[in-house]
Amino acid sequence: MIRMMMLTIFSGAVLMTILGATGATPQSGSTTKKSFGKTPDGQPVDLFVLTNRGGAEASITNYGGAVVSLKVPDRNGKLADVVLGYDTADGYVNDKSYFGALVGRYGNRIGHAQFMLDGKTYTLAKNNGENSLHGGIKGFNKAVWTAKILPIKDGQSLEFSYLSKDGEEGFPGNLRVTVIYTLTDTNSLKIVYSATTDKKTVVNLTSHSYFNLAGQGSGDILGHQLMIQADKFTPVDAALIPTGELRDVAGTPFDFRKPTAIGARIDQDEEQLKLGGGYDHNFVLRRSADIGESLAARVVEPTTGRVLEVWTTEPGVQFYTGNFLDGKTPGKGGVTYPRRTAFCLETQHYPDSPNQPKFPSVVLKPGERYHTITSYKFSVEK
Ligand code: GLA
Repeated sequence: MIRMMMLTIFSGAVLMTILGATGATPQSGSTTKKSFGKTPDGQPVDLFVLTNRGGAEASITNYGGAVVSLKVPDRNGKLADVVLGYDTADGYVNDKSYFGALVGRYGNRIGHAQFMLDGKTYTLAKNNGENSLHGGIKGFNKAVWTAKILPIKDGQSLEFSYLSKDGEEGFPGNLRVTVIYTLTDTNSLKIVYSATTDKKTVVNLTSHSYFNLAGQGSGDILGHQLMIQADKFTPVDAALIPTGELRDVAGTPFDFRKPTAIGARIDQDEEQLKLGGGYDHNFVLRRSADIGESLAARVVEPTTGRVLEVWTTEPGVQFYTGNFLDGKTPGKGGVTYPRRTAFCLETQHYPDSPNQPKFPSVVLKPGERYHTITSYKFSVEK
């Protein structure tokens, strides 16, 4: 089959469209770009709409690199948007929940907002009690990323880049970050993160989508069936900082080795669940080193049949059940998002790793390349 590729550049609302057309398929993929509003200081912000050959669609903004919507089919082929988000850039400017965002320079918490490297103490802003959370006051989720639509290979791809300057939010080193999103024709949203630095630093990048596989705004996620490939998790103290222990999940409400409803044990009278207000914990993934992506978690939504598998090269995943959502912030299409109406599976190195010598290292040195991959793969079960 002869495949023709056309690159057409327009001006106006749709600035650029990349079409891959075979003529023989029901639908050819496309990526389009449109305005998504402005930052408070007047910088324009864009929304990229990636549509694959099967009609699944990911909308991603260069404000915070956030996934704004993700439309995937149910067992009858019906599309629904399975992530929480906002209709305009303003929502993301004001957001405190990290909806869909790229999180960095350090995803999750750093205890007492400080760490040491080579004998020097680095002090970060305290934006979560005494701790630093998700990169600080102005993390990567509040940055305007430089965007580039890439040529079609495995699907529709978008590259975001950002220079986090030496000293930004207290972190050492100019960090050059690149994130490539690909919506594949097999309904996977693949995220490839890369970074280099000119001074020794710490890096832990993640993506903070809030999923509801029945569709955003459709109620709680307590009936979703979850499996996490983890024999251990990292228990936390009252400030949600890991104590350093790797605790067996066996015999605890953290045992998701067999598919279990998220809500089956969430309100049990158990110390760790109480501290998290539900699940808000890092799981130690059962994976072999250096073999590329491994399956981290699988979630099934029984009423629609939608399935999400998370595959990653990372050693951990933060399972968070939206315990801080309060239904006050207006979301997409005017819906609100009450407590536990979404879950996050944030692939990562363990929280507070810079202060935990026994955890896998998050140090990046000049000359090295940070490189991690996470795929959110969607399918259906009958
Ligand atoms: C992560 C944290 C949670 C919470 C959310 C954002 O999942 O672990 O405690 O801060 O981000 O609201």
